[in-house]
Amino acid sequence: MHNTVKISDKIFWIGENDRRTELFENMWPLPNGVSYNSYLIVDEKTALIDTLEYGSSDDYLDKIENLIGKDRSLDYLIINHMEPDHSGSIKMVVNKYPNVKLVGNIKTFKIIEAYFGFKDNWYQVEDGSELDLGYHKLKFVMTPWVHWPETMMTYDLTEKALFSGDAFGCFGTLDGGIFDDEIEFEDYYEQEMRRYYSNIVGKYSNMVQKAFKKLEGVDINCICPTHGPIWRADVNKVLGLYNKWSKYETEEGVVIIYGSMYGNTAKMADSIARKLSEKGIKKIRIYDASKTHLSYLINEIWRYKGVILGSCAYNSGMLPTMENLTRTLEHMGVKDHLLGLFGSYSWNGGGAKSLYRFQENVQWDLVSDPLDTKGIPDDEAFEKCEIIASAMVEKLKAKV
Ligand code: FEO
Repeated sequence: MHNTVKISDKIFWIGENDRRTELFENMWPLPNGVSYNSYLIVDEKTALIDTLEYGSSDDYLDKIENLIGKDRSLDYLIINHMEPDHSGSIKMVVNKYPNVKLVGNIKTFKIIEAYFGFKDNWYQVEDGSELDLGYHKLKFVMTPWVHWPETMMTYDLTEKALFSGDAFGCFGTLDGGIFDDEIEFEDYYEQEMRRYYSNIVGKYSNMVQKAFKKLEGVDINCICPTHGPIWRADVNKVLGLYNKWSKYETEEGVVIIYGSMYGNTAKMADSIARKLSEKGIKKIRIYDASKTHLSYLINEIWRYKGVILGSCAYNSGMLPTMENLTRTLEHMGVKDHLLGLFGSYSWNGGGAKSLYRFQENVQWDLVSDPLDTKGIPDDEAFEKCEIIASAMVEKLKAKV
């Protein structure tokens, strides 16, 4: 008995849960694991849609054979995305079904050739191309840079199912529940979906918006992403979240992130947070950048309008963990936040000054002058903490 799930009469989920890998893309922690979703359509023609990470399943081929039958071949392998967490098993599939047609766009094939050396059996599609499987008619939608150059989606005109690749995907394994109506989304998956979006796809938010434009007016009953739950009960929920995140829409709240070697910058973070609370802000999060993984920090920044960053001086710059965060934010092109800055130093400074250079680069709305404190914060420093908190609250209330 293989672990496959029927989505409809002819469409099956044949994915795999990965609870072993520590770091996705060897960077992003997976405390709750991740699923790799692969789909199979068994019609007059058979079509596999995306494969699995290499080695993630020892019975993947058995699942396919079990569903299509021993005597049939696989007609098409549709490749929406070539990143190895989905293309890693292509070679294995081609070895078993050497006549399978590889369905992709011109950019897909460039990567296939680079990865596997395959030059034959290509079935090239373009935006709007259709493929007839018998009962199911598929249409291809080019959605480049969500989040690789070759990314595309496959829309099933018959059952109105959208095979969306990484778009609408989520960290976290599928623990029994596969569909959105079988899981606790808000209590469990939503944080992991935003962490996935912000860290993996978020840099290309403008391309996500372009993809939304292409999908405008398309009647979608079901969204089948390559990671996380399948959406069939409330597709508008996941569409709404991705739309909101890709437009950098945030909530009223403040995340304070600091780098502190000996506790002085940390003291100011707590002081600012207390003042924010006294002024009515309920959603306040404080993180030590040296302890909390970058992916969680970016997730929180994607959530809240207010961001307050602090750093002690370190060799005339900011603490390297804060430098890593700010450099990543610049690289991602994160937009539209209110910003407060603070820091401390023992001799020449550098933490707050470097944070100010970050602000100049990203052009977030600086709510007040940066605070830079020499030595242990005194009453004057804490009064300045209150000035940052007051300015942040004033602007938050005006904007959100
Ligand atoms: Fe899930 Fe971009 O690979």
